[in-house]
Amino acid sequence: MSANRPAAVVVLAAGEGTRMKSSTPKVLHEICGRSLVGHVVAAARELDPEHLVVVVGHAREQVGSHVTGLDAGARTAVQHEQNGTGHAVRMGLEELAADGVTLSGTVLVTCGDTPLLTGETLAALAAAHASEGNAVTVLSARVPDATGYGRIVRGADGSVTAIVEHKDATEEQLAIGEINSGVFAFDAALLTEALGKVRTDNSQGEEYLTDVLGILRGEGHRVGAAVAADHREIVGINNRVQLAQARRLLNDRLLERAMLAGVTVVDPASTWVDVTVTFEPDALVHPGTQLLGSTHLSAGCEVGPQARLTDTFVGAEAEVTHTVAVGARIGAQASVGPYTYLRPGTELGLKSKAGTYVEMKNARVGEGTKVPHLSYVGDATIGEYTNIGAASVFVNYDGETKHHTTIGSHCKTGSDNMFVAPVTVGDGAYTAAGSVITKDVPPGSLAVARGQQRNIEGWVARKRPGSAAAQAAQTARPAQDAEDSGIRKA
Ligand code: UD1
Ligand code: CA
Repeated sequence: MSANRPAAVVVLAAGEGTRMKSSTPKVLHEICGRSLVGHVVAAARELDPEHLVVVVGHAREQVGSHVTGLDAGARTAVQHEQNGTGHAVRMGLEELAADGVTLSGTVLVTCGDTPLLTGETLAALAAAHASEGNAVTVLSARVPDATGYGRIVRGADGSVTAIVEHKDATEEQLAIGEINSGVFAFDAALLTEALGKVRTDNSQGEEYLTDVLGILRGEGHRVGAAVAADHREIVGINNRVQLAQARRLLNDRLLERAMLAGVTVVDPASTWVDVTVTFEPDALVHPGTQLLGSTHLSAGCEVGPQARLTDTFVGAEAEVTHTVAVGARIGAQASVGPYTYLRPGTELGLKSKAGTYVEMKNARVGEGTKVPHLSYVGDATIGEYTNIGAASVFVNYDGETKHHTTIGSHCKTGSDNMFVAPVTVGDGAYTAAGSVITKDVPPGSLAVARGQQRNIEGWVARKRPGSAAAQAAQTARPAQDAEDSGIRKA
């Protein structure tokens, strides 16, 4: 247990977020593979609080089940009407009290729409709060544009006297550049007591959480402010412009972390990653690449340009270019692309290849095996060092059920083959180009499964007289006849 383990973190997420103009609740919008509230809950969880409460209101079933789905230890409290941030915190604390929880120690309050706030900053706030022995410590920030934020009002001695909302501020107060981030550390008992005294005589007729500071100060308690080291961390999302800006910032942060850990990112501006992506040193990412979900890049691999990898493992020194992959496992030194689609259940072995215009699904491809061109490999197992000819299709679907194809090791299958599943081609077997393989091929045999070629002599002259084809044929004919007769004389 950490020294500053909070008694509780209360996340405020009851607001509607009308400015998003969305049928999705604001806090469920995503950046970098996680919802806004998901980022906030993850940061809170880093502090290992005894209780983690998310206050929900607008779309409460949807937001509530999303939160408990992400973090089984989190609980939700309902705020039926959005009567202000103070009221919201009160609902969170009452939910705990109703369960017989008596909080003692520190309560942190954060907002569901500030996804960039790190656990580190929250922990620093809790530490400052404890070391200064404050009743409340607000996380403040100096921002280039304070419009809309509550202003931190300090006395002559520099101590915090109050927070004044933008809408309630005087000209003089509006000039203050230090603002309230909306994140606080409180003494639990004092917070509970002060919330009972918050009034609604302000421009919005709401219970302001910020009024708790003035109340506590008036009662002689210590009120402090910790200035955030990076003001960009506290940005709240209210519209989709801010959503895009926050995504950009978080993406930059994730890529910076990767680069400092030894990953080469050729063009950070066109490379997008989720928070859940992991890298090994000396992975190299080319422009136009999206790495999503649980994707992992191993040492020395090269990904992109133009790759979108979701939940995909890329082995050491593999090359993956112009590729869309979902739920695939790409082995070490394998080669994928350009223009390749790997679907769930694809497993490419060491030094294997999925080449140009190749789609694979639920397919295990052994070491050194190549599927170089224009093919569909679905529901298949292919052994080692086999070559699949160009333009082959693993015919896995009979209209009702999917069937499996097994191809052995060291096989050479011809171009334009159809493998009509279920079917097995044994080790070391060959198949002829243009074959439709419907029967098992024993190891080491050559399967030929196509119509015999028939040449109908003189057909063009008879059926297409006077055509360019007929003329070309006539020009070619004497030479051919001479050759043929020469053969006959010999
Ligand atoms: C609030 C602060 C302001 C601060 C700003 C930082 C107050 C009174 N004001 O203003 O000083 O600078 O955040 O972004 O606290 N919420 C509820 N229930 C409610 C009202 C709000 O859960 O009844 C939630 C919202 O969903 C949101 C958060 O509380 O996550 C902040 O509410 P919002 O309305 O955005 O407050 P601001 O006006 O931005
Ligand atoms: Ca806000």
